[in-house]
Amino acid sequence: MKLFLDTANIEEIREINRWGVLGGVTTNPSLVAKEADDPARVWKEILSAVEGPISLETTELEAEPMFEQGVELSQMAPNAVVKVPMTPNGLVAGKRLVADGIRINVTLVFSPAQAILAAEVGAFIVSPFLGRIDDVASDGMEALRKICDIYEIQGYETQVLAASLRHPMHIVDAALAGADIATMPFGVFTQLVKHPLTDVGLDKFLQDWKSLKEELEKGA
Ligand code: E4P
Repeated sequence: MKLFLDTANIEEIREINRWGVLGGVTTNPSLVAKEADDPARVWKEILSAVEGPISLETTELEAEPMFEQGVELSQMAPNAVVKVPMTPNGLVAGKRLVADGIRINVTLVFSPAQAILAAEVGAFIVSPFLGRIDDVASDGMEALRKICDIYEIQGYETQVLAASLRHPMHIVDAALAGADIATMPFGVFTQLVKHPLTDVGLDKFLQDWKSLKEELEKGA
C-alpha cells in the first residue's frame, strides 16, 4: 500500500518526502485555502517536490467547465491527477477526461455503490472518505472492505485510496482491507513512526554505548 500525504503544505511534504516513504499527495480546496496563497503557485511547488501522483481538485460544478478546468490542471505537470467529485457532472467530466488520457481521482465517495460508478468511468483512483463516514455513525472501514472486495471480484483497475484517515489504526486496517493507497494528514504520518518502546530502547542502547566508551577510556 502506498502512503500519501493529505496536505497542501510544502514544509510538511518536504519533511515526509525526506523519509523516503512518500508515494504521492492529495490536496482539496479546503487544504489549499489553508495555505492562503495563489493555488497555482502552491500546486506547482508540490508537483515539482514529489515524483508520485499529486491530486488537484476541480471546483467547477457544471460538466463542461469542470472538464476544461480538469484539462488545465492536468497540464500543470505529468504527475498531476485531476480530482472530480462523485456527482453526475463529475462523472460526465471525469469520463471525458479519461477519454483524453487524463488520470482522474473520483473524490467524496462514501459508499460501495459510488465506488462502482467511479470504476465504470475508468477512474485512476477512487477516494472513499472513511473518517467522515465514521463521523455520521456509520462504519467507514466496512465500506472500504466492501469496495476492495468488489474491485477484486470485478477486476476493476481503479486504485482504491483510503481517505479521511484520522489515526494509525486506520492505516493498518486499510492495508489489511487491501487498499492500494492511504492518504493521511501530517500528524497521522508522524504518529506512524512513533512507539514508546522505540524511544526507551534507543535511550538504553545509547546509555550502554556511552558507558562502554567511558570504561574503555578509563582503561586506556
Ligand atoms: C482526500 O483526498 C481528502 O482530501 C481528505 O482525505 C479528506 O479528509 P478529511 O475528512 O480529514 O477532511
